Amino acid sequence: MCGIVGYVGHRQVQEILLQGLRNLEYRGYDSAGISVLADGEIESVRAVGNLSALEQAIHGNGDSTRPSVALATRPATTGIGHTRWATHGRVSEENAHPHFDTNDRIHVVVNGIVENYVSLKARLIEGGARFSSETDAEVIAHLIATYMDGDLVAAVRRAYAELEGHFAFVAMSLDDPDTLVGARLECPLIVGRGEGEQFVASAVPAFMAHTREVQYIENDELVVLRRDGVQLLRPDGTVLDRPIVHIDWDEETAEKGGYETFMLKEMYEQADALADTIFDRTARGDGVDLDEEGALDEALLGDARRIVVVACGTSFHAGLIGRYAIETWARLPVEVEIASEYRYRDPIVGPGDLVIGITQSGETADTLAAMRLARERGATVLAVTNVRGSQATRDADGVLYTRAGLEIGVAATKTFTCQVAVMLLLGLRLAELRGTLDRARLTELVEGVKHLPHNVTELMDTLKPQVDALAEHWWQANFFLYLGRHAGLAVAHEGALKLKEISYISTDAYAAGEMKHGPIALLDEMTPVVCVATDSPVLEKVVSNMQEVRARGAHVIAITTAGNEEIAQHAEATLAIPRTDWMLQPILAVIPLQLLAYGIAVRRGLNVDQPRNLAKTVTVE
Ligand code: F6R
Repeated sequence: MCGIVGYVGHRQVQEILLQGLRNLEYRGYDSAGISVLADGEIESVRAVGNLSALEQAIHGNGDSTRPSVALATRPATTGIGHTRWATHGRVSEENAHPHFDTNDRIHVVVNGIVENYVSLKARLIEGGARFSSETDAEVIAHLIATYMDGDLVAAVRRAYAELEGHFAFVAMSLDDPDTLVGARLECPLIVGRGEGEQFVASAVPAFMAHTREVQYIENDELVVLRRDGVQLLRPDGTVLDRPIVHIDWDEETAEKGGYETFMLKEMYEQADALADTIFDRTARGDGVDLDEEGALDEALLGDARRIVVVACGTSFHAGLIGRYAIETWARLPVEVEIASEYRYRDPIVGPGDLVIGITQSGETADTLAAMRLARERGATVLAVTNVRGSQATRDADGVLYTRAGLEIGVAATKTFTCQVAVMLLLGLRLAELRGTLDRARLTELVEGVKHLPHNVTELMDTLKPQVDALAEHWWQANFFLYLGRHAGLAVAHEGALKLKEISYISTDAYAAGEMKHGPIALLDEMTPVVCVATDSPVLEKVVSNMQEVRARGAHVIAITTAGNEEIAQHAEATLAIPRTDWMLQPILAVIPLQLLAYGIAVRRGLNVDQPRNLAKTVTVE
């Protein structure tokens, strides 16, 4: 979850940028940098580690080979800054932002991903560009440079027209000083308006100490900032009229990005988190690359004869969804085990087994114990976690990181969808290594996975009012039943857990086909039943289960796939997810259930960020 800040005005810019970055620290980062425009030169300082490392570098750290003192003394009043959470390319100074073109005249800070960077980079290199980082973001600086003819706005517009992906960036140029030009494609970017000074950032806290007058940049828009004003543009150059809005957030609200809770904010961050988790691993287009720093030796992956997933709670559900993907695509048997049970039954595990510990915190005692036991018995152990340096990363032979950024709400939301994404990626990589999918199908699925962040953006744009209406109707119910089949069953389990933990409503989740073997006795005209009825080969069977539910007078809330009108005939209410390959739909289907649980819990007046009796990390055995 990277952070952007930019300033153009009359004050010394370095401290404004640093303070802005400090206020974005809560998003998590592993390196940072700033570039400032002073005396016909752009000066740039980047550093790995926390912001004090950057500050030291700016103010001179005693290393005479890298004197940086000038940056602090020059009267620069235009600049950009960035905190980076490594996704594409290692954590290194070269990969930290700002990035710049070959002649060091254009500097950019970028959040998100440029999906078509491979072809752009090849073309730019052919044209003579010299790249200095491994990032996708650097192409933006070079691309703008190729179009730069003294007018930064025109150059950015031309460059933007060629970029594909899920990103926001801010650019500055030596040849058009005292101007910043930004663009937003899905990732957030917001303007702060001052007197003779303007700010731009990925989140309001970056400039809240200076101004509370903001202008929202919408998706697919550009912004031009100069000391005396701001202009918002469509990509075709049409100037937009956008009101200035006063925000009266306190610091806590600002940390939540204006959302009423961390949980809501984190649900809305899912598109960005997924983009970070998926993008560079699918850049090739016709396969998946997981041979990154800290990852498992690919030979060990390819040699696995069986997979055992060990995990707790929500992470266990991510494992369940992963099982369907891995078994279907890679034809490898997968068992998914509750970690707190696993070690007590003297499990049969050893060489040839790949044991995957899924744990967002990387510190859950039961999951760690299960991983250790498997390792002692000779299995290869892979950790899927969100936290660098966590215990799970040290107890495993290899690590695959989810890149969800910091999750503060106790209920796992964005870390869950990112765990599922990692399991999907793993399934595709295993299929590739084992030759179980032909290239055309693999390419189709990779394309689908790459598109998931866009699917989530689309879903978030449409879902909230419908979920709110449902929550308003059902928030006083005493019991919810969740039904699903195939991977939809794992979605049902996750939906039920989310509602129970944050709303304290009793829930149950069942394989829909099991209903007639007992749970059907629970149904009456007071019971809401959430059915996961997205595309799948078992959809017809789910539909007949929905009919059974309604025959008992209970009420069906169906999660459906857009365009499948028939489902509505068997449900009181439907929440539709965008259509994609049916095997990819479970990751989307969980999102309406997260939002529904949230809507119900807030109507019951509960603290969703910190449900009673629950802790974010469970480290006690
Ligand atoms: C539910 C939730 C928990 C965790 C579980 C495992 O919203 O957050 O069920 O999923 O405690 O935690 P990790 O993934 O950190 O091992």
